Amino acid sequence: MGSSESSGFYKKSVEERLEFVKNFASLSDDDMKILRMTGSLGIDRADRIIENVISTIELPMGIAVNFLINGKDYLIPMAVEEPSIVAASSNAAKVARVKGGFSAYSTDPVIIGEIQIVGLKSLFQAKMNILLNKKKLIEMANTRSQTLSAMNAGAKDIEIMVYETPYPMIVLHIMVDVRDAMGANTVDSMCEYIAPEIEALTGGRVNLRILSNLTKYRVSYASAVFSREIIGDQVIDNIIEADKMARIDIYRAATNNKGIMNGIDAVLLATMNDWRSAEANAHAYAAMSGYGPLARYEKDAYGNLAGYIEIPVSVGTVGGTTRSVDKAGIAMKILGVKGSEEFSQVLAAVGLAQNFSALRALAGEGIQRGHMELHARNLAMSAGASVSEVDRVVEKMIESGEISLTSAKKIIGEIRAG
Ligand code: MEV
Repeated sequence: MGSSESSGFYKKSVEERLEFVKNFASLSDDDMKILRMTGSLGIDRADRIIENVISTIELPMGIAVNFLINGKDYLIPMAVEEPSIVAASSNAAKVARVKGGFSAYSTDPVIIGEIQIVGLKSLFQAKMNILLNKKKLIEMANTRSQTLSAMNAGAKDIEIMVYETPYPMIVLHIMVDVRDAMGANTVDSMCEYIAPEIEALTGGRVNLRILSNLTKYRVSYASAVFSREIIGDQVIDNIIEADKMARIDIYRAATNNKGIMNGIDAVLLATMNDWRSAEANAHAYAAMSGYGPLARYEKDAYGNLAGYIEIPVSVGTVGGTTRSVDKAGIAMKILGVKGSEEFSQVLAAVGLAQNFSALRALAGEGIQRGHMELHARNLAMSAGASVSEVDRVVEKMIESGEISLTSAKKIIGEIRAG
């Protein structure tokens, strides 16, 4: 194997990069042929989105159906590699629909920019000096976005975190209403712009100037009632018991929240939004008063299961990559949301739907049966089953009780031998 060192790799053409990778990893001509297939995105556009591009990668895009949120019907595009997620969302939405679907609410889209101030003689005097000049700082920040100012949005307030730690510092939070944007660019430039004034006011030194991915003021809420006639009293009791476990057991809470993000990330991927920031946001929020589940369950007055989710969601519907990737733009068209607030509400509902379905399966027959079938399907495909053979191979493998690559190969052989 050769060296991975390559100066100016980014300056090479895609073909030259492919050649370099081919030699390094001994790729076959077939591998190269596959890498050269770049779908509707196309290599030229891909090459302008990130660095050192050699190809594109496809994911299945599915549609979750049955969603009724605040009285409006939605088809929800989801891109993900994990089976069951799209089905789980659709099933939960079907059950929720019977009792009127999801209700959802979002706060104003206010995010936080952070400025770290160190080297201070007095943390409290520095805080005072900033607070006394708050109005001026907010006005300065707002010169960075004419658009937001014209909408009566933009920087709204400032709060100061005082850290009397062995390395004392204060951290200024500037709260910015970013309307339909994700907001990173605007907030980062506001922070950079006011930093010299902060140094002048405090006599300290500014280090970091960057938005926080924890958006405790940009939060979405969704709720739904899942009918006891459909899911049964025993499953409801088991789900409530599972919820109690997630509230006290961080190991369960992590898995529970992973399930919630299964749905949310899939929508973010289909629409080409930053799912890493959504992950950081959700888990940090879940940890704000000791890590716990983002959704909660209880029985309503009629014994139905009522589910609630409270989750910070910071997504934009303007700017970002969505516009440069045709399929992401089409996914947004299918979703049909009018702005960031509605988008956030849909995401919260999807998170709740996903969580309910996972808990329903876990609290009922467990998820292993479904997973084994999916596992068998993956094995059948890895063993070389054609599209028309896959279902039969899966069926026979499950029947035989032996789910393995060897078994899949044997069954394919038998099918082909007639
Ligand atoms: C699997 O991707 C997600 C689940 O583990 C979520 C959960 O346990 O709540 C099923």
